[in-house]
Amino acid sequence: MDVAGTVGELRLALTDARSSGRTVGFVPTMGALHVGHRSLIESARRASDVVVVSIFVNPTQFGPGEDFGAYPRQVEADLGVCRELGVDVVFLPSVDEVYPDGWGTVVGVPELSGVLCGASRAGHFDGVATVVARLFGLVRSDLAFFGEKDFQQLRIIERMSRDLALGVRIVRCETVRESGGLAVSSRNSYLSESERKRAASLYRAMRSAVDAIRRGERDSSVLVERMRAEISSAGDCDSECDVEYVSIVDSDTLRSLETVTENARICVAARVGGVRLIDNVAVDDAVATR
Ligand code: PAF
Repeated sequence: MDVAGTVGELRLALTDARSSGRTVGFVPTMGALHVGHRSLIESARRASDVVVVSIFVNPTQFGPGEDFGAYPRQVEADLGVCRELGVDVVFLPSVDEVYPDGWGTVVGVPELSGVLCGASRAGHFDGVATVVARLFGLVRSDLAFFGEKDFQQLRIIERMSRDLALGVRIVRCETVRESGGLAVSSRNSYLSESERKRAASLYRAMRSAVDAIRRGERDSSVLVERMRAEISSAGDCDSECDVEYVSIVDSDTLRSLETVTENARICVAARVGGVRLIDNVAVDDAVATR
């Protein structure tokens, strides 16, 4: 496995792959690799000849007061995971390598960035789109793998790649969940055991809503109220849980829907014991079974 710290080293590591026309699959990460990342890397491994993983905690996607400084960093363990999963190249750049002197570009998808998480995290998605565009430009992979857990991020990257004709196919990968249903995330490491149980109420509430949709409920405001109530009253422990949003949106435009359609997605964000968590589920099969 090659570990490239600079753009030059990355290019060198990918020269053979490029000249021999092998398929390159790319998994961008911020490290602290967990089973969710493992499944992205495994998907990339199955679909590509050469697998590249980047590990870069991107400062431009953290707002003031967010956890950039505290974000879990465990490079040696991450390299071990990459080796175990047969990754070919790990790109481990410094901030200066990603944003060199004179850097002056911001990439944004305003139509999809101001809603849901973007409403409370100004600039976050511009930071994500900018770093992903930069990484795509450097790695120039055929495929790139993103988890559905960060659904808004996924949609923004899909739109950006299409609009800018970046030539990379975005592969959607299913959310990986703990046994209680909690979506796996690097930030779960901040949760205590009891907070983890409390956090699982996000998924439970969304599943109850999908069941209600299956039984015929289509009014988003009714479903949203029930989900809010279920999350707020989940009594597994004393940890605080502040719901930031519960929303039923169109999966393409991310606009709020008054009536649930086949293309709807339920999205939630909440703080459990101070840790901000997000999750989402599709409702397609529930609408289709009616
Ligand atoms: O999802 C993440 O880990 C990050 O937002 C990403 C896509 C690697 C960009 O920094």
